[in-house]
Amino acid sequence: MVDRVVVYDKFKEIMAPEEQQKIIDDNILFIPNRSFTSYVDMKEIEDNFRVPMFGNRSMLRSEERGEVKNYYWLLEKAGLPFPEKIEDPADIDSLVMVKLHHAQKKLERGFFTAASTSEYNEKAKVLIRQGVITEEDLGNARIERYIVGPVFNLDMFYSPLETFGTKNELIGVDWRFETSLDGHVRLPAPQQMTLLERQMYPEYTVCGHNAATLRESLLEKALRLGEIFVEASKEHYDPGIIGPYCLQTCVDKDLNFYIYDVAPRVGGGTNVHMSVGHPYGNSLWRKPMSTGRRITMEVRRAIEMGKVSEVFW
Ligand SMILES: Nc1ncnc2c1ncn2[C@@H]1O[C@H](COP(=O)(O)OP(=O)(O)OP(=O)(O)O)[C@@H](O)[C@H]1O
Ligand SMILES: [Mg+2]
Repeated sequence: MVDRVVVYDKFKEIMAPEEQQKIIDDNILFIPNRSFTSYVDMKEIEDNFRVPMFGNRSMLRSEERGEVKNYYWLLEKAGLPFPEKIEDPADIDSLVMVKLHHAQKKLERGFFTAASTSEYNEKAKVLIRQGVITEEDLGNARIERYIVGPVFNLDMFYSPLETFGTKNELIGVDWRFETSLDGHVRLPAPQQMTLLERQMYPEYTVCGHNAATLRESLLEKALRLGEIFVEASKEHYDPGIIGPYCLQTCVDKDLNFYIYDVAPRVGGGTNVHMSVGHPYGNSLWRKPMSTGRRITMEVRRAIEMGKVSEVFW
């Protein structure tokens, strides 16, 4: 399924003017993914990447948690629900998730959970000693209320070209397999208690995905979240989201969604829709509809409508 392979030593070599020229000469359209925005400098992508790139490139930066106008900022502006932020570890009074960089794995994060300030202090000490996190990163960590409930990635697509309805589609839903968390939950509690210190705290490294559906009454809420997100993105990141994006959510016991992360691009979990599609996207389009296929459909439509500049920013 790969027509031609080009191998670089480093991802960012794609930015070299002569490499870009080769890609442009081959009439290639670029679809950004998370590796691209992690390994290539964001400013370089915004200012110096000349290959036609599908979507709104000025939104990619919202995924950088260090940015002021990041996705948390946007969710707040939009009035969308997200897990409450705890400003000070001394205020931890119920289960929280602490989110920071993994000290060694560039793409991963060194998450941990704690139900009290003393548990926070204790775990932080162990993880620093193990080299999983650093003291400095801990100072910049985001502490947020832990949502007890299942996790759903809402794989959405916004079509600026569509003339019907809200133009916002739910292509599919996925959820993820994570090391070593999924190993932990498959052990009975007494066995978990026998794990060694270096095994005791699960990591949350995504290593696979699966397709999921939502209870029907949640579908309307899910679509509404997308519509509000699209509107807010138009207001704050002109011209707003174009094409695929992913709202990563948890659902609590009262069936409320909380958005804990947003990918303003193809979500990693959309691989599960490859070739077979998903019940939602397939029902909408009456054929197998993956995110990749949906993007190519949009490009084709843009060409036919003479509106190519509306989907490449
Ligand atoms: N507030 C929360 N309550 C409960 N679980 C959460 C919360 N935030 C995140 N999680 C869980 O933690 C995992 C990692 O979350 P997050 O999206 O922040 O990181 P990531 O997607 O692994 O990292 P990145 O987005 O940088 O690739 C998710 O699978 C989710 O299940
Ligand atoms: Mg994420």
